[in-house]
Amino acid sequence: MNFKTLTDNFQIPVIGLGTWGIGGFTETDSSKDTEAIQAIKDAIELGYSHIDTAELYGAGHTHELIGNAIKNLDRSKLIITSKVFKTNLKYNDVIASCKKSLEKLQTNYIDIYLIHAPNPEIPLEETMRAMNHLVGQGLVNYIGVSNFSVEQMQEAQKYFKNKIVANQIPYNLATRNVNLDRNTNNLGSCINMESEIIPYCQKNNIIIMAYRPIERGFLLKPNLLLDGLSKKYGKTKAQISINWLVSKKNIITISKSINIDHLKENLGAIGWNLSPEDIKLLDEMEFESSNNY
Ligand SMILES: NC(=O)c1ccc[n+]([C@@H]2O[C@H](COP(=O)([O-])OP(=O)(O)OC[C@H]3O[C@@H](n4cnc5c(N)ncnc54)[C@H](OP(=O)(O)O)[C@@H]3O)[C@@H](O)[C@H]2O)c1
Repeated sequence: MNFKTLTDNFQIPVIGLGTWGIGGFTETDSSKDTEAIQAIKDAIELGYSHIDTAELYGAGHTHELIGNAIKNLDRSKLIITSKVFKTNLKYNDVIASCKKSLEKLQTNYIDIYLIHAPNPEIPLEETMRAMNHLVGQGLVNYIGVSNFSVEQMQEAQKYFKNKIVANQIPYNLATRNVNLDRNTNNLGSCINMESEIIPYCQKNNIIIMAYRPIERGFLLKPNLLLDGLSKKYGKTKAQISINWLVSKKNIITISKSINIDHLKENLGAIGWNLSPEDIKLLDEMEFESSNNY
């Protein structure tokens, strides 16, 4: 595994395990629990040590499955990122959400706790006061945000005693040039990722957690450039897409799979380099739309 620096003494793997849909999407689905727990264990065994999750996922059930998978493992070797949903950003709600998540995850701390998406209805000052409390209590080690603009990051930082370490955003080859207004689907606004959010994070040593690295499979569809590069490097399109992402300064990614072949394949996205010329070709590639936002 390759790593990037989250803070002075904390390294984060360039590929982590996403868990959206494991144990349900916005509602609990317990129909595949045994295989889901096994897939999480397999992923960890293969070398995924960073697990990304959220209280939203499976209405809490995803946390339970992760808790089940990790309960007998060395917790210190794992990094868990979780998120408090935008409806729970009032002071008492943040604290209650975090405690509930810890219980389900069967752990006594979350490594990186993110605000899942901004909520203009709840002042960030109140939310960050709760985050200060959680860090002070040792329930959370680091705080980050998700789907935040530069202005929202700056405001959150103003009220937080420590450094905000990460912004998780929908950045990949298909969405890089698309201004995503996610207000319609309950997330934040990720506008100007390449021109504003990413340069700001790079300049301020904030990790960018790029989510949906293969745009939920859209990037595996026929595409002249990706097909050509796949042939040239002997790598799959998923591997090319992930390699391109993590070739960028301060960018790591989280990729979801419960299929052991896909888990292995996605790890094969690292340990080799696209040439600077090919990175440039991908940088300039234009997708009209993934029709998948
Ligand atoms: N902060 C936010 O607002 C936010 C929003 C969305 C996502 N996320 C996080 O980011 C993670 C990743 O995003 P995502 O799950 O939406 O999308 P993704 O990782 O781009 O794609 C996941 C889908 O692709 C399939 N897949 C994975 N690797 C593959 C491969 N090598 N070949 C073929 N198919 C493959 C998976 O199916 P199989 O399981 O069958 O392999 C799954 O259906 C999420 O799980 C979640 O943790 C965060």
